[in-house]
Amino acid sequence: MIHIPKAEYSRRRKALMAQMEPNSIAILPAAAVAVRNRDVEHVYRQDSDFQYLSGFPEPQAVLVLMPGRVHGEYILFCRERNAERELWDGLRAGQEGAIRDFGADDAFPITDIDDILPGLIEGRDRVYSAMGSNPEFDRHLMDWINVIRSKANLGAQPPNEYVALDHLLHDMRLYKSAAEVKVMREAARISAQAHVRAMQASRAGLYEFSLEAELDYEFRKGGAKMPAYGSIVAAGRNSCILHYQQNDAVLKDGDLVLIDAGCEIDCYASDITRTWPVNGKYSAEQKAIYELVLAAQEAAFAEIAPNKHWNQAHEATVRVITAGLVELGLLQGDVDELIASEAYKAFYMHRAGHWLGMDVHDVGEYKVGGEWRVLEVGMALTVEPGIYIAPGNQNVAKKWRGIGVRIEDDVVVTKSGCEILTQGVPKTVAEIEALMAQARTQAA
Ligand code: GLY
Ligand code: MN
Ligand code: MN
Repeated sequence: MIHIPKAEYSRRRKALMAQMEPNSIAILPAAAVAVRNRDVEHVYRQDSDFQYLSGFPEPQAVLVLMPGRVHGEYILFCRERNAERELWDGLRAGQEGAIRDFGADDAFPITDIDDILPGLIEGRDRVYSAMGSNPEFDRHLMDWINVIRSKANLGAQPPNEYVALDHLLHDMRLYKSAAEVKVMREAARISAQAHVRAMQASRAGLYEFSLEAELDYEFRKGGAKMPAYGSIVAAGRNSCILHYQQNDAVLKDGDLVLIDAGCEIDCYASDITRTWPVNGKYSAEQKAIYELVLAAQEAAFAEIAPNKHWNQAHEATVRVITAGLVELGLLQGDVDELIASEAYKAFYMHRAGHWLGMDVHDVGEYKVGGEWRVLEVGMALTVEPGIYIAPGNQNVAKKWRGIGVRIEDDVVVTKSGCEILTQGVPKTVAEIEALMAQARTQAA
């Protein structure tokens, strides 16, 4: 299995600590277990920030970084070993494992945190935490600080600065290392294979969930624990619902099906969309819209390189799509004016992409000092233009209504441009029709 090597977690902690102010402390909680219903839990997914710095997969843990602490800079609070619980729920690292296998300098039982953590915080000037994103943890943090305050008359020194960790940590997460790109390539490869499988299985009379099952099969077979987000399998007019997730409609002859799905490997997401005809052959109108979206995507790729800014790729897609919609008679008027008045938004209402990483809509600022961010080597993003012609759009001829097309790939900025991680799924009309025709011949 391809994964982030242990040494990389240690490098990340050191890099973060090097940016923290002297005499400070950073405190991050693991994700809570989410109850699904009664005594059934959702599949556990570690918090991305916590995972980024620790690789520690368990709930009920708190990570503490104390740059310059003589007795160890990295402290992990985690569950104790417990033979009875481990028999029922699985192995735990315990404090020994936290040190031996996860590089902690010191480890304590999570049940002792209220007794130990105030003593660690005391005397540090500044506390870094994810303030605001986890109200329950914020309350705990205040409780620990108040323990120190209550001892002020004994000389205890509470910190006087509370700083959001996000700014430092999320900027680090924006730049992907070679090891991260390797994991993302693997997630992309498996997801590409899943889309191919769904294309091959596509038949009128099946359901949207039938194709979702094909995706899930490839994800799990590839070693992914779960999809990176709820898979969108949207046939016919459902393709015009951007975040459709019902996935229970029947696939009809003559309809398109839009699939937006990607798996997660070692907590790194992939995010692919393809749109293909249920019966294996695009109609003239479907093909026209599809090829326009594809041209927009190609134009966007050309705008992704170091020193180009974040919005250039989006602007390129807007121009190609608006001009194309005019050519097809779906919009009327001057292209520049239609762009200025945002007339294209009736058909293309989302952005051309987002940062991609441990979160599918990954962290990292899109603007710096009020200006669009300039792209740099190692930034990962999606490129996903789309055109959605609402079923009820009375301004266009009937033949166009209900067509929704999105094409989405994942890229990493390289020295000379970008690497497309998701090349493994066919994309041109000819390639997709050929793949689907071959699958039908083999099945017959
Ligand atoms: N799957 C969500 C997105 O493409 O942004
Ligand atoms: Mn997507
Ligand atoms: Mn996306």
